[in-house]
Amino acid sequence: MARILIAGCGYVGQELGLRLVREGHSVCGLRRGAGQLPAGLRGFSADLTRPETLGDLPGPFDVVFYTAGADRRSEAGYRSAYLQGLGNLIGTLQEQNPPVRRLFFTSSTAVYGQSGGEWVDENSPAEAGHFRGQLLRAAEQVLLGGPIAGAVVRVGGIYGPGRHRLIDSVGRGDACCFEGPPRYLNHVHRDDCAGALAHLMELDSPRSLYLLVDHEPAEQCQVLRWIANRLKVPAPPRVSPEAGKPARGTKRCRNTRLADSGYAFRYPTFREGYAAVIAGEGG
Ligand SMILES: NC(=O)c1ccc[n+]([C@@H]2O[C@H](COP(=O)([O-])OP(=O)(O)OC[C@H]3O[C@@H](n4cnc5c(N)ncnc54)[C@H](OP(=O)(O)O)[C@@H]3O)[C@@H](O)[C@H]2O)c1
Repeated sequence: MARILIAGCGYVGQELGLRLVREGHSVCGLRRGAGQLPAGLRGFSADLTRPETLGDLPGPFDVVFYTAGADRRSEAGYRSAYLQGLGNLIGTLQEQNPPVRRLFFTSSTAVYGQSGGEWVDENSPAEAGHFRGQLLRAAEQVLLGGPIAGAVVRVGGIYGPGRHRLIDSVGRGDACCFEGPPRYLNHVHRDDCAGALAHLMELDSPRSLYLLVDHEPAEQCQVLRWIANRLKVPAPPRVSPEAGKPARGTKRCRNTRLADSGYAFRYPTFREGYAAVIAGEGG
């Protein structure tokens, strides 16, 4: 049994926590509103951006997941949720004896600046042109250059029960396929996100960096059409990129390192994942 802290215990963190409890681990979920955690998860209310609230953290912990997400998309929101929050938690945990065995940080595939459909993996340059990717990258470096053994997990777009924006937009008829360079969706189902994190925790010597996306970066239009077909609604129309906005492409993320480490996806592509969400599974 490991003693585990999930800091920023939200959509993914709760699923991860419940899974680890079922596996017999002792789990503490930290968030500002710990009263919102589901039954079965022990909670601790604290604000990661306010170190004084972390003083009574009930440790020690063997493994820590930092899965907090910014609740504002502004530069200040990103800076406090990722750089400041992660730094504060490391500062609190670095004195722990025995030391934390490993701290996993869920970063994002937004750290990549590639936009021409290139394949990217853990060896690709991660030089995003926007502050979101840059601040996430800076937080990764704080972890990997810090006193606690860390691993960064760059997660793609998470969907699943309760997070089905694409399905809703296709169902309402307001989804569009944009002409221009292909836009690839690098997605992962919530349960695979939690499953892969639980899997990485069990590795004897995890690498310091993993991409966490499913097996198939799929063109946005292909996904929308597949969903429309499933919902038996008209296929989304093809439209020119929004007026005044440059045609925007994306990268394709490769998950070979994670797959080679032995993780078997429950939802290997958007087809299995979205079929499950449309069927209302796992709510
Ligand atoms: N969602 C995506 O598509 C996506 C894509 C790439 C990477 N990621 C990363 O994957 C991780 C998990 O994502 P998610 O969708 O599960 O996130 P989420 O649902 O937004 O959960 C984040 C949790 O963090 C808590 N939190 C936020 N600020 C906090 C603070 N200052 N102190 C303490 N707790 C705080 C929030 O709870 P309270 O409000 O109660 O504090 C929230 O429940 C995040 O690190 C995110 O950045 C997500």
